[in-house]
Amino acid sequence: MPSPHQPPDDSTTCARPGEEPPSRTRPLVPPIELSAVYRIEGLDQVDALYEGREPGFIYARDGHPNAVRLASKVATLEGAEAALVCASGMGAEAALLLTLLGPGDEVALSEGLYGRTVALVGRELARFDIGHRTFDATCPNSLRAVIGPKTRLVFAETLSNPLVRLADIKGLAEVADAANAPLVIDHTFAPLLCRPLELGAKVVTHSATKLIGGHSDLTLGLLAGSSDLIGRVSTVASTFGLSGNPFESWLALRGVATLALRSARACATALALAERLAGARDVAAVHYPGLADHPDHVRAARLLQGGFGTILTIDLKERGRADSFIRALQHIPFAPSLGDVATTLSHPATTSHRGQSAEQWARQGITPGLIRLSIGLEDPDDLWKDLHQALQAR
Ligand SMILES: Cc1ncc(COP(=O)(O)O)c(C=O)c1O
Repeated sequence: MPSPHQPPDDSTTCARPGEEPPSRTRPLVPPIELSAVYRIEGLDQVDALYEGREPGFIYARDGHPNAVRLASKVATLEGAEAALVCASGMGAEAALLLTLLGPGDEVALSEGLYGRTVALVGRELARFDIGHRTFDATCPNSLRAVIGPKTRLVFAETLSNPLVRLADIKGLAEVADAANAPLVIDHTFAPLLCRPLELGAKVVTHSATKLIGGHSDLTLGLLAGSSDLIGRVSTVASTFGLSGNPFESWLALRGVATLALRSARACATALALAERLAGARDVAAVHYPGLADHPDHVRAARLLQGGFGTILTIDLKERGRADSFIRALQHIPFAPSLGDVATTLSHPATTSHRGQSAEQWARQGITPGLIRLSIGLEDPDDLWKDLHQALQAR
């Protein structure tokens, strides 16, 4: 009979997690809680946890502290009852659409959405007999023209990519409400600049990979809306394996800490650069809602607070000009994402809008010479120097 005082075998010592260190202090910043599973006291507790009578976590795919902290912060920022962290912006959209749609349903999609959102609906969900129709997010009447009894959801972006057109969220919400279809707003390009839910949207989605994370070092998505809807989507997200993980949730929460400062600084720089670029020779057009000649400038001035966004797009017309500009830049990299602390650029025709037909490009105003700049935190004069010298390149 082994004595109870006999130390365990080395293999046992190795395998067990060890004692929690005694401490009456708590960490100042949230710890990263990587555990995939949680210890449960007994059967009464497991019942209470599953039935929601006791708070707590069981299995990380269903929920973990880092995601809950991030979600609660974003719910507050969006003025929502609840929020959910998903594995990516696309994961968040997929979880939402899989919750709300079934065979025979239709989705109204605004023109010029992020390419993969269009592919999610037009290619993947189409395989399950889900149809879609397209409207112009700046013109609620165009939504009225396509919305019908089969429309279960209306999807638009606050600021479109790459021409940064500003959706008439309030007008779209009125049309969507009248048809009993929730308006979903992808708010990736404009966190903090307005609150779509206050303007009548029912759900907000984000690619937290972009401005919310802010450092191009994580991939996550977010949804914000009513507790009832977020609860339903959360179950679907877990079942399809679309939940976000603890480390990236932790990183994103750290990113959010500086979001207001980053956004204000980058918006101010974007406006200053847009004004300079508008006067530059060889730039055929500058698309930025802060410029008086942007088609949505008046609405942007009324709706957006704290700036006109961090994205601006210039048109160099031809692919060859765009290519020599990209190659001549010394500091601004061609990196097809956005929202980083450093300024980056993307070329929509070969990345986000790749593979679309000439007719789709024409409808959205996309040319082979469009360059989308995501403005970061550098000194505006340093950025201008790099842009200016690259515009001279042939
Ligand atoms: C507007 C917009 N929505 C959604 C997404 C998808 O997000 P993620 O890459 O995190 O899946 C992107 C990605 O570029 C985006 O630009």
